[in-house]
Amino acid sequence: MIGISMTLRPLLATTLAIALIAPTAQAQVAATSPIAITIDLDTPGPTINRNIFGQFAEHLGTGIYGGVWVGTDSPIPNVRGIRTDVVQALRAIKAPNIRWPGGCFADEYHWRDGIGPAENRVARLNASWGNVIEPNSFGTHEFMDFADQVGAEVFLSVNVGSGTVQEAADWLEYLTADQPTTLAQERAANGHPEPYKIKYLGLGNENWGCGGAMSADHYVEEMKQYAHYSRNLNPAQTGPDAMQRVAVGWDSGNEDYTETVMQAWKDKVWSWDIEGVSLHGYTIPNSWEAKGPSVGFGEDEYAKAIKATLKMEGWVTAQTAIMDRYDPDRKVALYVDEWGLWADPTPGSNPGFLQQQNTMRDAVIAALNLNIFMRHADRVQVANIAQMVNVLQAMILTDGPRMVLTPTYHVYDLYVPFQDATLVPLSLGEGVYTFGDISLPRSDAVAARDKDGALWLSLVNVDPNTPLTLTLRLPGATGTAQGRLLTAPSVDSHNTFDSPDTVKPVAFAGRVSNGQMTFDLSPRSVAVVKVQ
Ligand code: AHR
Repeated sequence: MIGISMTLRPLLATTLAIALIAPTAQAQVAATSPIAITIDLDTPGPTINRNIFGQFAEHLGTGIYGGVWVGTDSPIPNVRGIRTDVVQALRAIKAPNIRWPGGCFADEYHWRDGIGPAENRVARLNASWGNVIEPNSFGTHEFMDFADQVGAEVFLSVNVGSGTVQEAADWLEYLTADQPTTLAQERAANGHPEPYKIKYLGLGNENWGCGGAMSADHYVEEMKQYAHYSRNLNPAQTGPDAMQRVAVGWDSGNEDYTETVMQAWKDKVWSWDIEGVSLHGYTIPNSWEAKGPSVGFGEDEYAKAIKATLKMEGWVTAQTAIMDRYDPDRKVALYVDEWGLWADPTPGSNPGFLQQQNTMRDAVIAALNLNIFMRHADRVQVANIAQMVNVLQAMILTDGPRMVLTPTYHVYDLYVPFQDATLVPLSLGEGVYTFGDISLPRSDAVAARDKDGALWLSLVNVDPNTPLTLTLRLPGATGTAQGRLLTAPSVDSHNTFDSPDTVKPVAFAGRVSNGQMTFDLSPRSVAVVKVQ
């Protein structure tokens, strides 16, 4: 259940108690009864890998072309064709890694189409996403340049569906060889003599579906070849910097892939290995056929979407349980490398472009999912929201020269202090928010200590109507509790190019009195607070 830490431990000498007053529907009886969070400061939890806050950029709609790549001749400010405003925005939230080139597109991508002089790039149709021309102007070197400008690690997905093992092996040699092989010399001739660093390598994508409709057994036989022959030859990538290979796993409810991959891993021979298994889990408010609008909705669509997004807790728990059976020492990490709210496309847009608005509902969804990943930090090492710019639950929307930051972006901004922090075990009696026949936890919280020892709290008021008063009892406390809070006039409030600041964080502070801190959270809000 969300809000109950996997490390619910007995109270130790040093505890914090947080009281929540929950005056809604079913919880009305308990309107004046405090709901306690208990934090165990004496038993540090796992490190929250900063890569949980990763991004995903696919050749899909305007996710790359227009959103990232404008070309070197563009009047839009750019560095070597990559738009400066987007890079600056991603640097500000310390985007730790970027997954590329897909998604479904990855299993149709041939890396040689996108290297060398611009006039020699191969134009193809993007059959996965709208059958538009894929000019391959943004290829390997452009992506590596983009990741470097952002300061992010690289997460490449190789083509298992329609490519070959040799093609993937050659791409890795091209990227990482430091010896003067023919491929390394070709890379140097294309402008990059130094070997690149590839931190993560996805071995296919959704190969149960768009990646070739393979049975789990068939995929595993393919995957083993890719895991063995896709060699990272960069001598600098050893020890903790070694490339991590990620096999395809869970499909929102279908356990076959994870089970089969992990079984194979347990019985593996010396010649292959993996370091991660993926999970893809989208929030679909209604059904795949009619998902529901991304804006212009009411409380019913809000409640349905929050209910849908909380399935992530069960998905992560279930996949962890499968992995634990084969890998009790947790050597193989869980990569939630596609997640987010998937709504109906914006009316009038190309349906193959997956464009949607991003609202305060998306912000609450982002916070709840990030909190789930942080609570599972002992297994979840990487997560990638789908997607970074202009696609699905985007951080950033662009329109020609204009750019707007979404409510989801602001949650990532608030959550920067949790990158590489240490999870603090926490338990929470969250109260209930009810709409119609949907009852949900009203609140959510995560605590963590940063490298300097400061305590950070993430606090979510899921209830769209009722404020939440939160009291933190900290005996002897005389310090401060300050941070920022994100809220908006309604659940579908959003930022537009003409009104970019409708949803943005404001300063937020707790009141400190007699060893107690009191926070007043607005309805539908996300707050991050530093407790001194
Ligand atoms: O993110 C959009 C698509 O969703 C990806 O290409 C695919 O992997 C998933 O089905």
